[in-house]
Amino acid sequence: MLPRRRTDCPRQPAPHPCVGWPATRSEIEIMTARTEQTSPTISPPSWRSPRFLTEALRSPHQIGAIARSGRRLAAHAAGLIAARSGPQTVVELGPGDGALTVELQRRLPADSNLIAVEVNTAMAEHLSHTLPWLKLIHGDAADLPKHLAEAGLGRADLIVSALPWSVFNVELQQRLMGAIVDGLEPGGTFATVQTVPVKPLPRARHFRRLLNKKFDAVLHTSTVWRNMPPAHLYVCRNPSGSAAPAAGVAGESLN
Ligand SMILES: C[S@@+](CC[C@H](N)C(=O)[O-])C[C@H]1O[C@@H](n2cnc3c(N)ncnc32)[C@H](O)[C@@H]1O
Repeated sequence: MLPRRRTDCPRQPAPHPCVGWPATRSEIEIMTARTEQTSPTISPPSWRSPRFLTEALRSPHQIGAIARSGRRLAAHAAGLIAARSGPQTVVELGPGDGALTVELQRRLPADSNLIAVEVNTAMAEHLSHTLPWLKLIHGDAADLPKHLAEAGLGRADLIVSALPWSVFNVELQQRLMGAIVDGLEPGGTFATVQTVPVKPLPRARHFRRLLNKKFDAVLHTSTVWRNMPPAHLYVCRNPSGSAAPAAGVAGESLN
């Protein structure tokens, strides 16, 4: 039987020159710890704001969660930016009301680009008021390469998402994943939130297998238990150039 959790890829990936690909889960945790040094000038969304819950009830198949990500989980995501001081292009897919966005912005090196793609109209309008500094695209993450081209940007060094993969059908998962891979630099990093309670669901399991097929390394961070619900990040490295996915990684089922 295959191990239930895998923390390291059998093939040690070379460091990615842009984002600084973490070789092990402990390296991810060191990066996360660095996120404590954050700027106090950008505030996270207020817990009292009803926007997230209102939209979650109105569009459950789009939002797919009843609560936004907590600050500890957001710090895990933002920690992935920490390894490099130079400018980089970071994309957030499905920013919701900005829980991850503000932490990503706090960690962003000078002259970098952060763009966010949000499909939900009410969320996008809300964000345009609450985070006026954000380069926000009201559109579908499945069109990511087009959005990047229209924004005058090349491929992203880091793509972060808390998209609700476990409510997306197989066709939508594949379409979104194709856009993510096409929008990511060779060797770039894709990180996505996975909440613990939905991991056994068939669509979540399909998504996990899809990650193994598309990326040549898939790690996960430690679980943030003080999140609602508890969650971790899958952190995935895009294959570099023409390199094929490592044998034993592609298509491997973990759960
Ligand atoms: C679970 S919420 C996460 C919100 C926020 N990132 C957080 O962590 O709290 C998922 C978000 O993804 C957005 N979303 C769903 N499908 C999308 C798509 N195809 N393109 C862009 N955004 C999408 C939803 O509208 C929602 O805002």
